[in-house]
Formats: sequence, C-alpha cells, structure tokens
Amino acid sequence: MLEHLARKWSRKEKPTEAFELDVTGQIPKHVAVIMDGNGRWAKMRSLPRVAGHRAGMKTVKEIVKAADAIGIQYMTMYAFSTENWKRPREEVDFLMKLPQEFLSTELDELVERNVRICMVGSKDELPDHTLEALEKAEERTRDNTGLQLNFALNYGSRKEIVKAVAEIAARIQAGELEPEQLDEQVINRYLYTRDIPDPDLLIRTSGEIRLSNFMLWQLAYTELWFTDVLWPDFTQEHFYQAIAEYQGRARRYGAV
Ligand code: IPE
Ligand code: IPE
Ligand code: MG
Repeated sequence: MLEHLARKWSRKEKPTEAFELDVTGQIPKHVAVIMDGNGRWAKMRSLPRVAGHRAGMKTVKEIVKAADAIGIQYMTMYAFSTENWKRPREEVDFLMKLPQEFLSTELDELVERNVRICMVGSKDELPDHTLEALEKAEERTRDNTGLQLNFALNYGSRKEIVKAVAEIAARIQAGELEPEQLDEQVINRYLYTRDIPDPDLLIRTSGEIRLSNFMLWQLAYTELWFTDVLWPDFTQEHFYQAIAEYQGRARRYGAV
C-alpha cells in the first residue's frame, strides 16, 4: 500500500517521458488552478520574487494553450487573493501590472483562439490601470465562444460569500425576494462565478495542501489534485497528467 502511494507521488513530480493523454476520455469542463510557488522558484535561483511571477506568466500561456487543445471550456486561474495585499508594496505593484503586461503580449493570440476573458473577484480595490486592462480584454472577447479564461484577481471566497449574503438580505428587505425562495441556485446567482459551472478539477502547485480562500462554495464536489512542482516549472505534461488522473477518479456525489 505504502509502496503504491509512493509510486503515485513520484509520478506526479516527474511526468513519464512521452506521456500521452487519452483525449477520448472524460475531459473536465472547468479546471481551476491555484498557481503557487513563484516566490520559491525565484528564491532557489537567487532572483527577486517578482522574477518568479514573470516566469509564472509564461506558464499561464502554456497551460491555457494545453487546455484549449483538449477542449476544456473554462479555466479559472487564481492570480491574486484578497489576502495577497499583505505582501510588500513593490511585489503588489508588480502583480497589479502583470495583467496589463500579459494581455499586451497575449491578447491578439487569445482572440485568434476564440478565447473569452473574464475577471472574477472584487473590482473595488484594484488600481485603475489593472482594471482598465482587464475590462478592455473582457470587452474585446465578450462574444468569443471558445475557452473561457477567468482570472481570479483580488478574489477571496469569504468576501464573495459576504457580498452575496448582503445583496440577498437587501433584496429580502426591499420585498423583492422571499426567504422561502432561497436555494442553491439563487445563491449561485450572487457569486462572482454566477455564469460559470463549478470546477470539475482543482490543481494546486508548490506542495501546499490548502485552499487559501479559493472558491469554497464552488469546490464542494470538485476533484482535488496537488503537486510539489512550482508554478513556473509546471508544464503542459504535468497538466495532462492531472487530467489523466482526473479521468481515473470515480465521482459519486454522495451516491453509490
Ligand atoms: C503564487 O506564488 C503567486 C501569487 C500568490 C500571486 P507565490 O508568490 O505565493 O510563491 P511562494 O508561495 O511564495 O513560493
Ligand atoms: C494563494 O497562494 C493565492 C494565489 C495563488 C493567487 P498564496 O501563496 O497566497 O497562499 P498561502 O498564503 O500560502 O496560503
Ligand atoms: Mg504562495
């Protein structure tokens, strides 16, 4: 048993050469990713943390391509949490410039690929330049019908739930909604993810086994997959390995 587990782990860390995914198998509709480990990647190379974030941006590009290639419909990338404001000022400033930088080089190709870009998270605290870059990309890709690429930016699940509860309470107080009408669908409509199906698969890199305030409601029945690989080192092969393991999972949703 232990031996079996050990094999499983080493397989995750190092993809077998010439790994091939069975694309005729079940492909998750929505994959959410906690892109973690940029800072440690940079530290290992005696580089500033921001160098890790820049390297991580290249990984985003590669993984989006890999997802598109196998027909995944939604990707949600956790790029900045509501807790990440606690980081040093220079790092936060850099991270807030990344969407602009990413989109200035990638948007044309994403448009060509028919990708639709959406932001999930609170727009309130974002600097104008960050918001403008994202809204411009949302606007330009609004009618695209291919992969929907969601950036979770200034995203915090508890903040999202508090906002939903406050809006629902206001509607009840205004007599527009009865408490008896409340159900899971109604709550869904007040979340940032209102038009997005729940993730089928969650990937977190860098060896941390936690959710860090990401999609607590939406992940109720999501398959979780963790790897020690740091985000800048995460490749298309690692990604397909996660998908392959997902294909081997039995999703029961409480049934037998
Ligand atoms: C993930 O990498 C990117 C963000 C949270 C913005 P980190 O910056 O958290 O990298 P580590 O965890 O310090 O290695
Ligand atoms: C989660 O990573 C947030 C993002 C990847 C954007 P963190 O690095 O902020 O999470 P903790 O602090 O290790 O839980
Ligand atoms: Mg981290």
